[in-house]
Amino acid sequence: MVPAILGRESELAAMDRLLEAARRRPAGILLTGEPGMGKTTLWSAGVAAAQEAGFGVLRAQPAAEEAGWGFATLAELLDAAPAGALGGLPGPQRLALEIALLRADPAGVAPDQRAIALATASLLRALAQERPLLVAVDDLQWLDPATASVLAFALRRLGAPFGLLATQRSGAQQALTLGLEKSWPEGSLERLTVGPLTLGALHRLFVERLGFSFQHLTLVRIRELSGGNAFYALEIARELRRAGSLPATGDPLPLPETLGELLRVRLERLPAATRQTLILVAAAGVTTKATLAAALAVDPVVALDPASRAGIVDATGGLVRFRHPLLASAVLADAGEAELREAHRRLADGSTNPEARARHLGLAAPGRRWMQPASPRTGWGSGPRRSSARAPCRTWPTIRS
Ligand SMILES: Nc1ncnc2c1ncn2[C@@H]1O[C@H](COP(=O)(O)OP(=O)(O)OP(=O)(O)O)[C@@H](O)[C@H]1O
Ligand SMILES: [Mg+2]
Repeated sequence: MVPAILGRESELAAMDRLLEAARRRPAGILLTGEPGMGKTTLWSAGVAAAQEAGFGVLRAQPAAEEAGWGFATLAELLDAAPAGALGGLPGPQRLALEIALLRADPAGVAPDQRAIALATASLLRALAQERPLLVAVDDLQWLDPATASVLAFALRRLGAPFGLLATQRSGAQQALTLGLEKSWPEGSLERLTVGPLTLGALHRLFVERLGFSFQHLTLVRIRELSGGNAFYALEIARELRRAGSLPATGDPLPLPETLGELLRVRLERLPAATRQTLILVAAAGVTTKATLAAALAVDPVVALDPASRAGIVDATGGLVRFRHPLLASAVLADAGEAELREAHRRLADGSTNPEARARHLGLAAPGRRWMQPASPRTGWGSGPRRSSARAPCRTWPTIRS
């Protein structure tokens, strides 16, 4: 069953336009976004709408572990082609495609890539001439290379109207779609970034999935921490339910253990100097390279390089910020209190802005409510892995219906 979609009106409207256009010409939509943002949810809605509108839909959802298997996705896509569709192909093309799809014995002959590509083009053309056609691939980043090149070839040479609906995690290689962008008429491939859900959509998501929601301020905090990401927001909401109470204002929301663990593993791969620098960035929220340079004994650009390459921070301009608020939260949750105080002290030293300086000095002062006094062992870089001080909890959030 296709799950109900909350919000996303403009993306749904774009998919309606795609189906309209795909009856007359090649037209495509590529949905990109971070993991859990809702790409597959939209993609499934597009597939369902196409089926309802009478399209023939060839669909595939490649998985990471299949990315190395030749023609794994092509086989999945063509699975829905009517039985006998291959029958109309010229003999050598048909045999090559059947071998690629593991429907015929190769008898010691490697399948000929060109014949497979031509066969795929002929097959798709025949299908597109019968009724409107939608090719739908979720998670393009895991398309096996053999399918990617055959599909790109076939779609370029189809010579008939069709639609392409694909999703891709942001930051992934864009091989297939780049090929199409070059060969398709300008404007026929639309890229849509799937961004944060609105507060209203998150509220309804919680009500529908969990049977409750939160007060406005808590919703705002969950949205901030999750970056409006449906998957993360649901995880955080479940964790709040498990905890049974809300942290006091100003204290971090708890990260779900599984999510926290995932993020921690990612951070632990980084060199110690990088992690120390990340504590400063997390304590600052957003900061400048100049502030970091003044606050640190090491060159921040060099220290942050492994984190930039791992997609954890964006340090391309003068500013340095985390790529996702959850990563900053994981760094803060993992830092010892003495490390945090030291980070704020250094940020105060490095800040030229008097307001920022005062704020960091306040946060560096011993005795702040959520901090424990530093133990003698918890100096810079050698602090305990996790804070043991927990703020007094307030009561369970008001549950909206
Ligand atoms: N607009 C929405 N309405 C209702 N539920 C949503 C919406 N967007 C996302 N969700 C829910 O959030 C979760 C993650 O969404 P989804 O699987 O679509 O993300 P994704 O972007 O495809 O992630 P990945 O890159 O990991 O495949 C799912 O449980 C999904 O049902
Ligand atoms: Mg997905």
